[in-house]
Amino acid sequence: MSTQAGSEKDRVIIFDTTLRDGEQSPGATMTHEEKLEVAELLDTMGVDVIEAGFPIASEGDFLAVQEIAKRTKNAIVCGLSRASPKDIDRCAEAVKPARRSRIHTFISTSPVHMKWKLQMEPEQVYELVIQQVTRARNYTDDVEWSCEDGTRTDHDFLCRCVEAAIKAGATTINIPDTVGYTVPDEYAALFRMVMERVPNADKARFSVHCHNDLGMAVANSLAGVRAGARQIECAINGIGERAGNAALEEVVMAMRVRNDVLPYWTNIDTTMLMRASKLVSAVTSFPVQYNKAIVGRNAFAHESGIHQDGMLKNNQTYEIMTPESVGVKQTSLVMGKHSGRHAFMHKLEELGYKLSDNQLEDAFVRFKALADRKKHVYDEDIEALVDEEIATAQDRIKLVSLTVIAGTMGPQSATATLDIDGRHETVQATGNGPVDATFNCIKKLVPHEATLELYQVHAVTEGTDAQAEVSVRLAENGKSVTAKGADPDTLVASAKAYLGALNKLMIKRQRHRPEAISAP
Ligand code: KIV
Ligand code: ZN
Repeated sequence: MSTQAGSEKDRVIIFDTTLRDGEQSPGATMTHEEKLEVAELLDTMGVDVIEAGFPIASEGDFLAVQEIAKRTKNAIVCGLSRASPKDIDRCAEAVKPARRSRIHTFISTSPVHMKWKLQMEPEQVYELVIQQVTRARNYTDDVEWSCEDGTRTDHDFLCRCVEAAIKAGATTINIPDTVGYTVPDEYAALFRMVMERVPNADKARFSVHCHNDLGMAVANSLAGVRAGARQIECAINGIGERAGNAALEEVVMAMRVRNDVLPYWTNIDTTMLMRASKLVSAVTSFPVQYNKAIVGRNAFAHESGIHQDGMLKNNQTYEIMTPESVGVKQTSLVMGKHSGRHAFMHKLEELGYKLSDNQLEDAFVRFKALADRKKHVYDEDIEALVDEEIATAQDRIKLVSLTVIAGTMGPQSATATLDIDGRHETVQATGNGPVDATFNCIKKLVPHEATLELYQVHAVTEGTDAQAEVSVRLAENGKSVTAKGADPDTLVASAKAYLGALNKLMIKRQRHRPEAISAP
């Protein structure tokens, strides 16, 4: 599913630099195998140019670029090189096995970079541009030249260098915003100025390469395209030096979703965006911010009641693209304290429950109470809650309140209030631990001969705020019953489970001795 193919003049080349600028960012190093895996996915998803690395930087980089060059089926494989003969030769050797190869050579052109970093005069830089593009061109017909720190470069000098690079054979001219300093209008004006003033500008494709230091990498890239650039250099998840590069998934989806104002197209299969994001996050160990556009885990999640209600009526109320279009299986309605009745009913249906109106009402009240205490309410929490609701609907003994004093200073004590056939009764008891104290309260209020055969606790979900699910088995006269109770408080869950089992025993007794209808 490419992004709405149109005429060739509106096609934007996607140049992915995840494996070069991205891998260069602190902590994002990938192993050889991981680089091959990422390159294969980029190739499959329709990236036009894969910048596979910086071959002179290390033996590892060289071998990775070379292997990617051998394996890539569709994309152009590109290597980066500084403006030095050794760099260019090494880069040429690395990309040589590719079906289609590119050498990307760069040199700084801004006053601050030339003076402090290169310690060269502008004329020396100008000469190097010509020499290195010419050298690269001897290896391949596809040469890209970048003026590092282009957005802080003197305009006259920039135009002279661009003209010279094109004359020497550069087929792509990249004007990077290396330090993430420009703003959209200014970046667009820079491209218009260069294209207007450089006499041979029509002989090359212009490219944007934006860093995100001020959070404008995507906006700047798209502004450059509107001004005439037809290549975007970007990276999956926006990884790259410092604040990163423009995120591939964002530029691609912006052109797809807002094709009315950005009438350009790319070759990217957008349904693979999520997969690519997950892979890059996994191999770099860079987590994806939850609210990251397109691929963040909240990008298609709705929690507020009003939004969930709208989404259930029509997805377009709160979604400008479908989750499927970027490879996300489905919208998720996150159940939490902001969720309304509509979303709760929808969730129950999804989980396969059919409740009566009364049960539904009770379950909703209990869900709201749980959501107030627990950050995330998972499907398992709702299942535990509803199962209990169904199980306790007929109960004659219910827990009203429980207070337990536990800790190192024993004996532990509990105060419990139970509703027994509509009467509230309260009692206090001590015990050998808080669970024992709780059960002793219940025994005082509901005397019985049943013995505890099983007491088991497990967490319904992960985390310290997870609900505890307690199972209790009671045996009486050779018959045993088991019941479960769930609550974020393990002691409350224990009391509920114990009472659940007692209620079941009462039903059994009632069946065998119809006269025994009062609580024991
Ligand atoms: O940010 C930059 O200027 C670069 C160049 C090497 C293209 O990454
Ligand atoms: Zn960069």
